[in-house]
Order: sequence, then structure tokens, then C-alpha cells
Amino acid sequence: MTKSLLVTGGAGYIGSHTLLELLKAGYKPVVFDNFSNSCAEVLSRVEELSGCAIDVIEGDIRDKSALVRLFEARRLANEPVEAVVHFAALKAVGESVEKPTEYYDNNVGGTLSLLKAMDTCGIRKLVFSSSATVYGEPLRLPYTEDHPFAPTNPYGHTKAMVEQILKDWCHASDERSAVALRYFNPIGAHPSGRIGEAPQGRPNNLFPFITQVAVGKRDKLSVFGDDYETVDGTGVRDYLHVVDLAIGHVLAVAYMASGNRGFQGINLGTGRGTSVLELARTFERVTGRPVPYEILPRRPGDIAQAWADPTVAAALLGWRANRDIEEMCIDGWRWQSQNPDGYQSVVKK
Ligand code: NAD
Ligand code: UD1
Repeated sequence: MTKSLLVTGGAGYIGSHTLLELLKAGYKPVVFDNFSNSCAEVLSRVEELSGCAIDVIEGDIRDKSALVRLFEARRLANEPVEAVVHFAALKAVGESVEKPTEYYDNNVGGTLSLLKAMDTCGIRKLVFSSSATVYGEPLRLPYTEDHPFAPTNPYGHTKAMVEQILKDWCHASDERSAVALRYFNPIGAHPSGRIGEAPQGRPNNLFPFITQVAVGKRDKLSVFGDDYETVDGTGVRDYLHVVDLAIGHVLAVAYMASGNRGFQGINLGTGRGTSVLELARTFERVTGRPVPYEILPRRPGDIAQAWADPTVAAALLGWRANRDIEEMCIDGWRWQSQNPDGYQSVVKK
């Protein structure tokens, strides 16, 4: 079984939850992160929750020689890295429109640098954080993996480009394997309340906005449009618990370790859609916290509804999302209420 893994972006929101699940499953992850959107405190908390020490290297994935040094050091220590779980990327859609070159450099250039370092050191397995955003406007729902790609912003294009690069990378050698996990909308937090999503500044995404309203950091939620052709006029998405998502990565690593080769794109979602107002109301009901809102015009670039067909994930990985919207709200609220300022919050004993 693959044991030693490199986790790029392991200090981030999804990376930190995945680290815990990897440790639980007996893997030995090494984190490589430049902390551009995270801090070291998260890793201390993963250590505290897991009872395991975590090796961390501060560095940028665009620095190929730093990656090669890391791979070489692990080989000499008799713990060769056998696979990479690759989260490191910039992820703000609006910012990607303003700063496209930074996004292509970091997300596409960074992945090329990582693949070249892996080639130098003979590492042939990679799990990639892709996104449902690669599909763009749905031609049909649910999205299946063969839905055409039509990203609508530079961030989405970086994900689609990296998927193409990974396909070509696998095509060039039949010993390689890459799994692109296309996440739908991950929300919530680890049930301990010790790790969770800590957006810098004003959250772009719905769920952290709801939790910040509930904790009193924002006055009210802005609902972007109530005139879509959906159940109640507000946008519908496939929200999934970040712990379910994290477990998907452990299964993807196992899938590659058991001899599957080549490229696979796999949706990770629940297969169920929830509207903005349904999510806000469920949050209010299970937490007892009010979430006042106002209706604003539609957000440019938004689609009405999106949800996954998760049958490929079930068939290939044995994965399915087990945690429901209520659990996502309860766990997300536990994190937000205990850490109102994210990892900057005073740690109360
Ligand atoms: P995040 O920003 O919390 O984590 C990303 C981590 O990567 C951070 O710790 C950051 O410091 C690090 N990083 C960024 N650029 C780096 C570089 N050049 N070198 C080294 N480290 C670097 O984001 P997240 O929400 O955990 O997302 C993880 C991955 O999943 C990203 O690739 C993102 O695009 C993808 N994704 C996220 C979502 C979502 O809703 N959160 C949805 C779909 C896909
Ligand atoms: C957004 C990104 C997508 C990215 C995903 C990460 C855009 C256009 N798309 O997707 O590329 O992969 O985040 O999870 O930014 N909403 C509100 N008020 C808010 C925030 C959101 O009403 O303050 C609504 C949106 O209109 C949408 C739903 O909530 O209907 C979900 O929005 P969000 O959490 O931003 O996710 P996506 O739009 O799916």
C-alpha cells in the first residue's frame, strides 16, 4: 500500500481535513505549502486531533528544485513519496478575472513544475483538486463526467487546462495514474470544531457568509437573485460535507495504489440540489441562530442550478457522501462559533 504522500496545499481548508483522514487511514503525509492562503496553526490543530506529528515544508510548487529536494530527502530516509495529493492553487473566481496571469502561473505553471519534479524522481501517481466549475452552463443535469467542458472564468480554465495536461501526462506513459476529483460545493467543518474554512476578508461563497452572519460579523446575507427557474427562485447547488470530500481523496489514493492506471475525472457531490434559501433555513433551524437576508440582483456569471451524478465515484472508488445538509450546518456552525475569527481567534482552553 502507498504510505508516504506529498500533500501540496495541505494547510488549506480541504487539505487540512484530508490530512486528518489520511493519517487516520495510516498514511504518512508530508505537507508542502507556501501559506499564501493559510497559516501554520491549522497544522498544529491537525496534529492535536490526530495525535501524529506532521512533516511540513514551506515552499512554492513553482519551485521545482525545492520539490525535487523534498522527494530526494524522503527517498534517502527510506520513505519514498509514492503519490501526490495536489490541492495547492488560487481559488477566487472574481480575483482570477482581475489577475488572470497570476492564476495561470500559480495553478497551471505550478502543476507543470510539480509534474516535472515528479518525473525527475519517478513519482507516477497524482490526485488533483478539480472543480465542477469546469462544466460551465449545464446542457443537462445531473452533470455526468462526460458533460462537455465550458468554463466561464480564468479560474475554471486553469482547472480544465490542468485536467488536459494530466490526460496527456498519463497518455505518455502507461505507468502513470491521475485522478481529477471534480468537487461540487464543499461546506462544513470537522465535527471537533477545531479546523474549518477561514476565508480572508469578505467570503465569496454562500456558506461561510451564512456562518459569519450568524456569528454577528455580517449584518445580513445577500441572496443573489430569486428569479431563477428553481424550487424557490434562488440558486441551487450540490453542497457536500468537507469530511466526505476528504474521505474521497483517501479512496482515490487507494484506487491508484491498487493498480489502476491512466486518467480519470470523477465527480464528488451528493447528487442532490439545495437552494440558497433552503440552506439558510436549515442552518437557522438546526443552530437556532437567525440569518436575516435581502434579495439582490443575480451575481454575474452564476448558473441557476447544478448538481452531480456521483455514480462513477461509487463505482470506481466505493465513495458516497454520507453526511446531510443538517450535519454540514451543525459542524460548520461549531467551527464558526468557536473560532469567530478563524485561526486568528484566541484559543480558549
Ligand atoms: P485553500 O486556499 O484553503 O487551500 C489552498 C492551499 O494551497 C493554501 O494553504 C495555500 O496557501 C496553498 N497554496 C496556494 N498556492 C500555492 C503554491 N503556489 N505553492 C504552495 N502552496 C500553495 O483552498 P481550498 O478550498 O482548500 O481548495 C483546495 C483545492 O481545491 C484548490 O485547488 C481549489 O481550487 C480546489 N477546489 C476548492 C473548492 C472549494 O469550494 N473550496 C471547490 C472546487 C475546487
Ligand atoms: C463558486 C464559484 C465556482 C467555485 C465554487 C467553489 C462563481 C461564479 N463560481 O461556485 O467557480 O468552484 O464557488 O465552491 O463564483 N450566493 C448568494 N449569496 C452569497 C454567495 C452566494 O446568494 O453571498 C448564491 C450564489 O448565487 C449561488 C449559491 O449561493 O446560487 C452558491 O454560491 P457559491 O457558494 O459562491 O458557489 P458557486 O456559485 O457554486
